Amino acid sequence: MAKIETPPKAQPKFDPDAEPLDTKRPPLWKDKNLRRVLGANLKQQWKRYAVAAAAMAVVASMTAGTAYMMRFIVDAMTLPEYKDQVLTVAGAVAAIFIVKGIANYVQVVVMAEAGFRIVSNQQTLIFNKLLRQSIDFFHYRESSGIVLRVTRGAAAARSITETVINSYVRDLLTLLGLIGIMLYHQPVLSFAALAVGPFALFGVGGLIKRSRLLSNQELSAMGDIIKIVQETVAGFRIIKVFSAERLLSERMNKAVNDTRERSLSFTRVNALTSPMMDSLSGLAIAGIVCLSAFQVLGMERSTPGEILSFITALLMAYEPAKRLMSTRLQIERNLAAVSGMYQLLDAPETLTEPEDATDIPEGTATIQFNGVCFGYGKRTVLNDLTHTFPAQKITALVGPSGGGKSTMFSLMLRLVDPYQGDVLINGQTLRSATNTSLRKSLSLVSQDTFLFSATIMENLRIGRNDATDDDVIAAAKVANAHEFIMDLPYGYETEIGENGSFLSGGQKQRIAIARAVLKRAPILLLDEATSALDATSEELVRDSLEKIAKGVTMIVIAHRLSSILTADQVCYIEGGEIKENGTLRELLDKKDGLFRALYDKQFREAAMEYGPVDIKSGNFLARTPEN
Ligand SMILES: Nc1ncnc2c1ncn2[C@@H]1O[C@H](COP(=O)(O)OP(=O)(O)OP(=O)(O)O)[C@@H](O)[C@H]1O
Ligand SMILES: [Mg+2]
Repeated sequence: MAKIETPPKAQPKFDPDAEPLDTKRPPLWKDKNLRRVLGANLKQQWKRYAVAAAAMAVVASMTAGTAYMMRFIVDAMTLPEYKDQVLTVAGAVAAIFIVKGIANYVQVVVMAEAGFRIVSNQQTLIFNKLLRQSIDFFHYRESSGIVLRVTRGAAAARSITETVINSYVRDLLTLLGLIGIMLYHQPVLSFAALAVGPFALFGVGGLIKRSRLLSNQELSAMGDIIKIVQETVAGFRIIKVFSAERLLSERMNKAVNDTRERSLSFTRVNALTSPMMDSLSGLAIAGIVCLSAFQVLGMERSTPGEILSFITALLMAYEPAKRLMSTRLQIERNLAAVSGMYQLLDAPETLTEPEDATDIPEGTATIQFNGVCFGYGKRTVLNDLTHTFPAQKITALVGPSGGGKSTMFSLMLRLVDPYQGDVLINGQTLRSATNTSLRKSLSLVSQDTFLFSATIMENLRIGRNDATDDDVIAAAKVANAHEFIMDLPYGYETEIGENGSFLSGGQKQRIAIARAVLKRAPILLLDEATSALDATSEELVRDSLEKIAKGVTMIVIAHRLSSILTADQVCYIEGGEIKENGTLRELLDKKDGLFRALYDKQFREAAMEYGPVDIKSGNFLARTPEN
């Protein structure tokens, strides 16, 4: 019984962005991602952050003012000599709270505005970067990872910036203000209270390494969830047909459980700062109370108001101090997502336009392959391929599956660059051409049709925004699509769903043909463009394409004889090499030729059954007694 051998080593999961997790990262202020995210965002939003910081300074001083006022409140209420100051004290307290409230509002709104701008800017930046990438960039990256980087990465960039500002401006200023009040009233006791600081810092330090690990794991589990949901939506039919629900539900369960566990673990680690700080603060406060009972350290000279003001400042200092302690953990949590985002932003752009790029010269649209070598990863697909596709002629590219036909199209479209050699249009290498002139030169119907979730009209106009309605209808007629479009409830304005899911396979393909035709590019590439059409539709489309082919260089990849028959040239490609090239007649005349063998195998049997093929029309001739 045949058995598939398992290779000795499992295939490594290829993630070009994967970075080994460095648990011994440099101190936070030396972290390059943190510096970068802060540098970029603070520079971009400095005006807003300056306003927010000013508002925070007001909030901090009002908070300190509240603690300070405790002294007057208590003294005014308890000591007879302060009785006449009650109204002033009450007015000051009210003013402090009103000013604090307004400053708080300004701070929250301005911070949020800066934050939302950071998110939208980062998302635009990543998205524009994606648009400049070659197709191999997307081959090696899972879309879920990209989605996660665009969404979580940008949000994390915002969170980090806000955490830093909230902690090191708002909380630090508040803390300093309150410590100032404490020192003012009871300098010796204040130092005693501040002695817990180093212990707290030491305790939090122990949690950092663990939080770094957890946040990385949490992120990858989130990526898994997105991936499973995407695959389920896209592959729903296959899941049903092959009863794969259980498999997917198991995968999803694992992913959501992982995410939950890791988020929970992170929360646990983060929340550990609470009992730590609470206990330390409790000890500090208890100690102070004891000391005050013994009336030591100069307390005997203080009024009850002063002592209460000190205690209030001490109690109020606890919250900002606690937040400051967990700052590092919050930053760590978001750094994982930010570093993922930067890996994507830093991926080298492969298809850049050189500075001295020039437009492809206007002309007859000849395409040349000049010693082109190309492959995917380590696998070579085209090896030193040289060929010229004649201008304004129809060339059929034929050959066995996997031979490199679609790859040649990708090279002509400059979706990838050759490792060696050049592809040229009208004598100009594509590497030195401007992107605009390159895109204008070519149009494509690809092997797997992709349509946008929009109306038919919007889909058709993608290649030419300014096309008139008449142009659109003419293109739809070439693709034999006009009739079925008019039968749809909203005609050209019908929404076609995600990737045209409301349409049949053949209808989608005809929209794709119309879209390519409407672009009116001098070079039209058709990759099995009529494979989903029935024989009658195909014949109609073929005839109209032949009509518009005048003056256009058309290259057709086809497995069906009918498409090959209309070609001026036939090019047989196998194993990445052009093995035969000539007119159909010439290739058929080569008795031991490869194309001849393919022809015999693929079409002779049909000819035997249905009668011979009329080379000109591609139709089977009726069987007559002579043949
Ligand atoms: N993105 C990719 N990553 C790795 N290998 C690829 C990739 N795309 C194509 N290949 C490989 O390159 C070779 C040529 O593929 P190509 O798509 O050009 O073939 P083709 O001639 O168009 O075949 P078909 O007639 O089946 O469409 C195949 O062996 C294929 O496995
Ligand atoms: Mg192909």
